[in-house]
Amino acid sequence: GESGHIENVRFSFDGPFGTYDQNQLQRGLQIYTEVCSACHGLRYVPFRTLADEGGPGLPADQVRAYALSFPIMDEGANMHLYDPDAGELRGLSENDHFPANNAMDAPDLSLMAKARAGFHGPYGLGINQFFKGIGGPEYIVSLLTTYEDPPACAPEDFPGSYNTTFAAGGFPAECIDEHGRHMVPGSWIGMAPPLYGEDVEYADGHSNDLHHEAEDVAAFLMWAAEPKLAARKQAGLTGVVFLAILSVLLYLTNKRIWAPVK
Ligand code: HEM
Repeated sequence: GESGHIENVRFSFDGPFGTYDQNQLQRGLQIYTEVCSACHGLRYVPFRTLADEGGPGLPADQVRAYALSFPIMDEGANMHLYDPDAGELRGLSENDHFPANNAMDAPDLSLMAKARAGFHGPYGLGINQFFKGIGGPEYIVSLLTTYEDPPACAPEDFPGSYNTTFAAGGFPAECIDEHGRHMVPGSWIGMAPPLYGEDVEYADGHSNDLHHEAEDVAAFLMWAAEPKLAARKQAGLTGVVFLAILSVLLYLTNKRIWAPVK
């Protein structure tokens, strides 16, 4: 299948000097907590990283309280919560990971922002990704904001929700033309629209319209998938500067070594 056009988003973490916006990560955490966690897990993300600098930066006591109050949706997936010493189930602590959640068959979101690409081509050259990034967060923003009324070609009872970004879902035969081409972009996804706008109340007074909520949760999921992004970018930049200086020194050394021969 094919997905519709995906818009570039100017995230704070774009570019060689980009870093996460702490307030945005906290808003995204709120969306994840209040909406997405009902179906999705974040099984590779330890609660304690919510306190990390460069991440959401929550104070340690808030992280403890957050972990302890986290609703455990899928008992079966969280057997480690059984404390054999105490002989009972215990609450989550900052040393636990966010629980897995397989209740709805929804995929784990820990690495989703790096598992999907928003930009492709042109012609398989990857030039769009070179300039705009891979586009995982943009894919998520797009997915969350492109639920549409199903097209007229589709039977009324076709299962799922029509989404013009999601390309991997079901697609009715009635919407495929005689050349085998899809007549409409996207496909039918098993996730009902999770966000409509004004789904949460932000403490920082930031706009909670659909697009802003989608950007915030996409930024949070990018942090979840790549918590050390700033350190990686800094190491890369240090490497490039180092190699540039080394090149100059080697060039000058080379000139001096060969000077008597010339
Ligand atoms: C799939 C994000 C809320 C159920 C997905 C995918 C993403 C995502 C990125 C993967 C799409 C792909 O494979 O390309 C989110 C976010 C949410 C949210 C950010 C909160 C804002 C929910 C909720 C439910 C749900 C509340 C259940 C009521 C599912 C299911 C799938 C899915 C079942 C698999 C769909 C399929 O493959 O057809 N979600 N989700 N999600 N989500 Fe969510």
